[in-house]
Amino acid sequence: MTALIEITGLRKQFGGLTAVDDVSFVVAEGEIVALLGPNGSGKTTVLNMISGALAPTSGAIRLAGEEIAGLGPHRIAHKGVARTFQLVRILPSLTVGENVMAALAFRHPPVWGGAAEARVETLLEEIGLGGRGAERADNLTYIDQKRMELARALAAEPRLLLLDEWLSGLNPTELQVGIELILSLRRSGMTVLLVEHIMEAVRALCSRAVVMNAGRTIADGPTEAVLADADVIRAYLGEDHA
Ligand SMILES: Nc1ncnc2c1ncn2[C@@H]1O[C@H](COP(=O)(O)OP(=O)(O)O)[C@@H](O)[C@H]1O
Ligand SMILES: [Mg+2]
Repeated sequence: MTALIEITGLRKQFGGLTAVDDVSFVVAEGEIVALLGPNGSGKTTVLNMISGALAPTSGAIRLAGEEIAGLGPHRIAHKGVARTFQLVRILPSLTVGENVMAALAFRHPPVWGGAAEARVETLLEEIGLGGRGAERADNLTYIDQKRMELARALAAEPRLLLLDEWLSGLNPTELQVGIELILSLRRSGMTVLLVEHIMEAVRALCSRAVVMNAGRTIADGPTEAVLADADVIRAYLGEDHA
């Protein structure tokens, strides 16, 4: 197994609060790994450090062997890390095609003109919005905004995709669509680290799960074993249920 991302002794302190405390784990090339844990356990902060939105207080983040901890978000994006946000971020007054086009213009190297238009159409087809590039982004349904957000992340042709509760807020039908979309990414060989609360999705998508609680890693292993772990159940449900 080749490690695509290797996190060692990662810490993030916000004043007196240690939000991420000595976290270490590895995601291998082609793996879909879940990063789980109760609210406030530090999951988004870990994603923020991998993507460069936040600099770690200490620790190492190696992408394909190269240290990226503390680099800015654009440098890290150019090295092949793309993400979606817990709250969908789109350019609402632009068209769907323009939203994806903007992502292409910011990638490295940028894609422009006719090549960009063709690439936009391919990306939209891949995520299920084929032929809908001229629609206004703010007219899209929630699942379609999610699709577009994914197309924007994929425009960078990432080696590692970070999804922060990308499936949350979907109705049961949309959830199946969303799971199927991520499965299609897995078939294409994409490596994904996904923060998710919907266990049905975690079971369907992730071979392995890492669980955090109060900033620390409390479990790391095959998904089924981790979800059956007494410490994990306790962290999610509180002491009374353990
Ligand atoms: N930018 C920030 N400044 C101060 N505290 C933060 C910041 N970001 C997150 N935190 C705190 O760090 C802890 C972990 O937050 P977060 O990583 O968002 O958790 P999760 O994604 O697991 O719900 C929380 O206590 C949160 O309030
Ligand atoms: Mg979060």
